[in-house]
Amino acid sequence: MVLKKNQRLWIAEKAQPRSSIDLVNIMRQAESMIRHTAFRPPSPPAKWLESGLREEFEKAGTTAHRLATGGDGWVERLGDDVMISHKNEVVLTELVAGLTAWTAKESWKPARVFTRFLPLKNADRVSPVLHSGDETLPVTTVVTEAGIRYGLDFATGYSHGLFLDQRANRAKLAVLRPKKLLNTFAYTCSFSVVAALGGAETLSVDLSRKSLDRGKQNLALNGIAETKHRFVADDTLELLPKLAQRGERFDSIILDPPTFSRGNNGRLWQVEQHFEDLLRAALEVAGPKCAILLSTNCTKMDEAGLERQARACAKLKRRTADYSRTNTPADFPVGEGAKTVWMMVR
Ligand SMILES: C[S@@+](CC[C@H](N)C(=O)[O-])C[C@H]1O[C@@H](n2cnc3c(N)ncnc32)[C@H](O)[C@@H]1O
Repeated sequence: MVLKKNQRLWIAEKAQPRSSIDLVNIMRQAESMIRHTAFRPPSPPAKWLESGLREEFEKAGTTAHRLATGGDGWVERLGDDVMISHKNEVVLTELVAGLTAWTAKESWKPARVFTRFLPLKNADRVSPVLHSGDETLPVTTVVTEAGIRYGLDFATGYSHGLFLDQRANRAKLAVLRPKKLLNTFAYTCSFSVVAALGGAETLSVDLSRKSLDRGKQNLALNGIAETKHRFVADDTLELLPKLAQRGERFDSIILDPPTFSRGNNGRLWQVEQHFEDLLRAALEVAGPKCAILLSTNCTKMDEAGLERQARACAKLKRRTADYSRTNTPADFPVGEGAKTVWMMVR
């Protein structure tokens, strides 16, 4: 889908881009939105956060949570700002109107509203766009979750830096208080920050050096020195056997891989196909007692399937384990967000 010249001019004028990068992003969003909007069935209306829950979150030291979830989009409160993620323009319009109605009832208004288009293909992903609010404010901000500080960035990529659907799992890790955590596919290292605050030594692994640098900043934001914390920019699948060979053992391991990615040397990672390989390799570095988080956003996988795969791997590696699931948090409808299982290896 390529926009016609008059459509491009109209968008350039209406959207008021502040730079040529902004303009390119807006054009790509527009093209992709038009492509995916055609013939879409109407999505169920968004469910907004119940009255009083925002105050509850704040009392618990949490300023990053969902405000609304619908079939084709959702709204997040991120500190003083809001991010609307949407699959098409119709949903975007509905969520903007919903936000206006919701904030009119609550004694809270966002400083800025960002919007982010959710494309079908990773290749179509673009950075969020400022929809309303002061454009001179910094594109970075700090949010809190259970009093822990995380830096967000609205401009450098598709994701802002904190996956809110992992809040309950971060809380569980805080309770588990591991001594040595292996955080694979670590992104901005939120799990490492939680474990570090509980006194753990951590090893965070991600292909992206930039994400790991943001992880280091998250540790610093919480006053944690880097001494006991390692950050390795590598392919998890290649690093795990090396860690096993070196005799490294962990009492907690986070396995939250993407659905698709290209690892070192362009090697294809496809979660449905490779999750068991990953778990078998992880079991080689699991200490005598180890809490392993199994997590995926793949729409074709569910928790029962994750547990089945984990049981098969445990049997193969002659390990026994108990399995548990975390409760859906109050700001997420049942079935929304990452599918996760805790495998407690004995
Ligand atoms: C879904 S995010 C992980 C989110 C993270 N667990 C959290 O809660 O913040 C996926 C991350 O995996 C990284 N990644 C993708 N393929 C990888 C690989 N083969 N080895 C290591 N990291 C990889 C990406 O760079 C990205 O940061």
